[in-house]
Amino acid sequence: MNLDQLNDRIAVIEIEVAAALRENGTVDSIRRLDTAVLGKESSLGSMIAGVKEYPPDQRGAVGKLVNAAKARVKAAIERRLAELASADSAADAQAASGFDPTLPGTAEPMGSVHPVTAVQWEVERSFERLGFTVEAGPEMETEYFNFEALNIPATHPARDMQDTFWLTNGKLLRTQTSPVQIRAMLKFGAPLRVIAPGRCFRYETIDASHENTFHQVEGLLIDRDIGIPHLLALARTLLSDVMKRDVELRVRPGYFPFVEPGLEIDMNCRICDGRGCPTCKHSGWVEVLPCGMVHPNVLVAGKIDPEEFSGFAFGLGLTRLAMMKYGIRDIRVLNAGDLRPIVSPRRLGGPILASR
Ligand code: DAH
Repeated sequence: MNLDQLNDRIAVIEIEVAAALRENGTVDSIRRLDTAVLGKESSLGSMIAGVKEYPPDQRGAVGKLVNAAKARVKAAIERRLAELASADSAADAQAASGFDPTLPGTAEPMGSVHPVTAVQWEVERSFERLGFTVEAGPEMETEYFNFEALNIPATHPARDMQDTFWLTNGKLLRTQTSPVQIRAMLKFGAPLRVIAPGRCFRYETIDASHENTFHQVEGLLIDRDIGIPHLLALARTLLSDVMKRDVELRVRPGYFPFVEPGLEIDMNCRICDGRGCPTCKHSGWVEVLPCGMVHPNVLVAGKIDPEEFSGFAFGLGLTRLAMMKYGIRDIRVLNAGDLRPIVSPRRLGGPILASR
């Protein structure tokens, strides 16, 4: 074998060793490989023994070539042995911890339905049982539907009660779900039972009980001979149904331009059981249901004859209801990306609105 042939032979041996190291996964088989390649009788070992067969001026070069190859092979073998040893100890550690990475994963649910969504679905279900349709309206609303048609003309001081985000296209972000009342009357006529859950927006300073984005459910029932007793009965049934307890109600006069008379219905505070806490402003009561008998001007805007029909409307504060139901004390938590599941989505049966 001349020097070139010797070089080629060494290269082949090294490639074979690398392949054998990849394939052999046990310490024993690698030790056998070590003897076969590096031992006296073995390929590289016998090359050293063969040095003396070369002419004296080449022996130094041959020795260097072969010894360098032996050192490289030895190092590769040691690396592989170290690899196996550390894999072994990792496997031991896994076995000791009882963790088996080969088992199929368990699908831990990541988060759940948002508390406000969960309450919205419950409210939708309760109203559906009472024969109400679920409607949606646009979040970007016209001034006419958000104010004018609801008996709040441009000069009316009630406009100041709702700090409004005005858009550059002349529209606004609806400050309430009430505009859907008008849209529903125009769409369905009377008699009518409809609710409209949705997001509303106000230019509010954010604190524990105010957000610039919040949820309401508008409700509207129009028929012949409808009066306040119907409204109170519905309020009690619905709130008890959603809160899963018999709620106590308190009724006060309230002012909203689109109803006459207007009422505020309060529910006893669940967080403090009526003893008084920051959530109920130490009164024991929480405002949940502003409502009233639909103003004749509003019926007219909805093309319904106020001589023939009457009805009531309400605006349920969905965000506040969710906070009461789940004992959430700070409204900002609702937008904080907290993934703790509050209720199983399957148990709630999903949205009614989205399935339409
Ligand atoms: N839209 C009112 C608000 O956001 C709430 C409201 C009050 C709605 C009385 C109604 C109602 O339908 O009759 O402040």
